[in-house]
Amino acid sequence: MIKLEHITKTFELNGKKIQAVKDVSLEIQSGEIFGIIGFSGAGKSTLVRCINLLEQPDSGKVLIAEEDITGYTGQALRKIRQKIGMIFQHFNLMPSRTVFENIELPLKLTQLTASERKQKIEELLQLVGLSDKAQSYPSQLSGGQKQRVAIARALANDPKVLLCDEATSALDPQTTHSILQLLKEVNERLGLTIVIITHQMEVIKEICDRVAVMQNGAVVEQGNIVDVFSDPQAPITKDFIEAADNFEAFSALIKMNGAITGISHEQPIWFLTYRGVVAGEPLMSELYRLFKVKANIIYGNIDYFKECIVGKLGVAIEGEDAQIKAAKAFLIEKQVRVEVLR
Ligand SMILES: Nc1ncnc2c1ncn2[C@@H]1O[C@H](COP(=O)(O)OP(=O)(O)OP(=O)(O)O)[C@@H](O)[C@H]1O
Ligand SMILES: [Mg+2]
Repeated sequence: MIKLEHITKTFELNGKKIQAVKDVSLEIQSGEIFGIIGFSGAGKSTLVRCINLLEQPDSGKVLIAEEDITGYTGQALRKIRQKIGMIFQHFNLMPSRTVFENIELPLKLTQLTASERKQKIEELLQLVGLSDKAQSYPSQLSGGQKQRVAIARALANDPKVLLCDEATSALDPQTTHSILQLLKEVNERLGLTIVIITHQMEVIKEICDRVAVMQNGAVVEQGNIVDVFSDPQAPITKDFIEAADNFEAFSALIKMNGAITGISHEQPIWFLTYRGVVAGEPLMSELYRLFKVKANIIYGNIDYFKECIVGKLGVAIEGEDAQIKAAKAFLIEKQVRVEVLR
């Protein structure tokens, strides 16, 4: 659906060159929810703005449904932009217009009659759950409601793609969840391809099929989210996942006084990641049964994804050296990722 080939974008600010996007190639499939995660300044917005040519790349190609749109201007560009909706962190609604009028704006550029527009707007309001707010002004709405209006407006021209630039960053966790669920619903119902920019792994985890991780203008890792979550490669990906897992609390715990934690300083600490049907607890009892190795669970987390689960366990190990080694090999054979933290 969307193909980016070797995209590069440089800005010049006060005579200094800033390379915002460096040779990025990505392929986003039709109907998928694709996440782009990275810290502030990583180049996420610049990259996504290249998709609808709000930024013109210095080099590289942008293809939408196999159509090379890179050089488009004028009428051709306007036409392709109608197929690509976009929503933003701060909603970007017109404050002096009602909800109805905000959604009507993009429709005014079409051939629809006033009554056809009205019908379309009513359908959109129903889709986003705001049928009773048609005559309200943005200032009378909550953040979540404003984003719903922005989504309705972005969907007015029946786009094939929806770009979301930090669309939930200004919202509390519960409202974030409801907006993400709405995006998931429009993805499924309308077959819309969605690109989501975020700096929160929780957002990726909740609705994305695949993810690309950006750092300093480059994509450092990309893949199916279950693969990325169960076996991250780039250090920055690990940082994002650890932040989402509250791994810091676990790290603090293993440094704490043994009298409180019951973990002695000599005990190895393992961090185990497993996916699918391998359940944590039976596995630990197997270690004892087979190797007389005791694994004391001091941290646990399970993530539920569309097609499988990823579990994580932090365990303090006790046993004979040779047996511990065998136990580790056993886990690896069972497709468990074993990181030795100590
Ligand atoms: N119009 C511009 N002029 C000059 N520099 C720019 C411009 N737009 C972006 N940049 C620079 O390009 C780099 C990437 O910016 P970008 O906004 O794409 O990052 P981001 O990942 O979206 O960050 P954030 O999470 O803060 O939104 C930054 O160093 C930024 O300062
Ligand atoms: Mg940005």
